[in-house]
Amino acid sequence: MKYTLMHKNISVADVEIDEDLGVITSIDNISAKEHLPVGVVHQLRHGETVDRYALNHWWAGRSIPASRMGVSDALEALGVSSTKQLITKCLGLSLSDHYWLRPYDSNITWEAVNFFDNDFSDDIGDVLFGVNDKNAGFDFVSPDNTSDGNLQKRWKIIDGKRCLIKGGSYPYRQQPYNEVIASLIAEKLGIAHVHYDMITIADEPFSICEDFVTTHTELVSAYRIMQIRERKNHESEYMHYVNICKELGVDVVPALDGMITLDYIIANEDRHFGNFGLLRDPDKLEWIGAAPVFDSGTSLWYNRSDDQITTANIICKPFRKTHSEQAKLISDISKPDLSALDGIEADISRILSSQKPERTALIAKCVMNRTETLKKR
Ligand SMILES: Nc1ncnc2c1ncn2[C@@H]1O[C@H](COP(=O)(O)OP(=O)(O)OP(=O)(O)O)[C@@H](O)[C@H]1O
Ligand SMILES: [Mg+2]
Repeated sequence: MKYTLMHKNISVADVEIDEDLGVITSIDNISAKEHLPVGVVHQLRHGETVDRYALNHWWAGRSIPASRMGVSDALEALGVSSTKQLITKCLGLSLSDHYWLRPYDSNITWEAVNFFDNDFSDDIGDVLFGVNDKNAGFDFVSPDNTSDGNLQKRWKIIDGKRCLIKGGSYPYRQQPYNEVIASLIAEKLGIAHVHYDMITIADEPFSICEDFVTTHTELVSAYRIMQIRERKNHESEYMHYVNICKELGVDVVPALDGMITLDYIIANEDRHFGNFGLLRDPDKLEWIGAAPVFDSGTSLWYNRSDDQITTANIICKPFRKTHSEQAKLISDISKPDLSALDGIEADISRILSSQKPERTALIAKCVMNRTETLKKR
């Protein structure tokens, strides 16, 4: 079916989508090249080209990953064979950016359909959370069709606010608690962050945070930013990102200092290039600055048994293989004052109180040790 790829009310290009496969088979009539998703226009020696493969990669990244917990049950309940088929059912609208698909020749406006201002259905979220008792007649108009990430999650409108509710993984279901601890540490250190709280649904823990994207800002992941241009031979991945941000007019170093510091302290294992990025003004296409730190739950030995709660064998992403190597990237100028974390053990024990006390004590002690080690750097 033919659509116009839209960025708010700007027509960007016409695209043909194979709805069964969920792929963009053609792109033409590019009317606002500068509004194309970041990183899909490639510079060639003789000009620029829109990389259809890159555009499809971006499009596929709008679908729920096939690796999302519980997704096969949800697809079965919905009678759909792939999460890629869900995207067009909500016109590709999301609560993290402002792209969408307008059926070709239709005159629907962004104001009429966007999820920031318009209500959306709970059906998809209910199915993803296994609480839907319908077996037909689903209302697919939901930003849950375009949400990324492996953990079970859904968007919900609470008191008029768009909130993301996210679960944890077995056996400890610790990620929701970790989000709360990470946001507390970030707050104490003055690191711009998304605030997470805990809620319980059917006796299971979930984190909840507000949408940090608005109708005037949108999230562009570090992954996408790094597609803007190729890495030069002399550039590390860190410098590649820092330099591109500089070319876009953003000094991202202080924000990276904060993020790397936080990730060191909480032993974060999953700060991949989709878990941080920049905010952009979707109308003026101006870069605003680093997005607040979000998604820090894959940390604090979330899936390790108690005997593995040590400082050894912690996976580190995205710039270095170990946290101690990555910490060397923190510039002294914007190094957060770690004495603000004095007494954090008590907060960790309180927040993790549903875990066994021995486990909580081990985690709190490791965080303290890691903070002390970082202080000595
Ligand atoms: N508060 C928010 N406001 C707007 N967009 C958000 C918010 N939180 C998350 N997102 C978007 O949703 C995506 C998935 O969320 P998140 O990274 O928290 O999930 P996850 O399942 O923990 O991810 P991962 O697969 O990295 O473990 C993010 O990459 C980001 O694009
Ligand atoms: Mg994530």
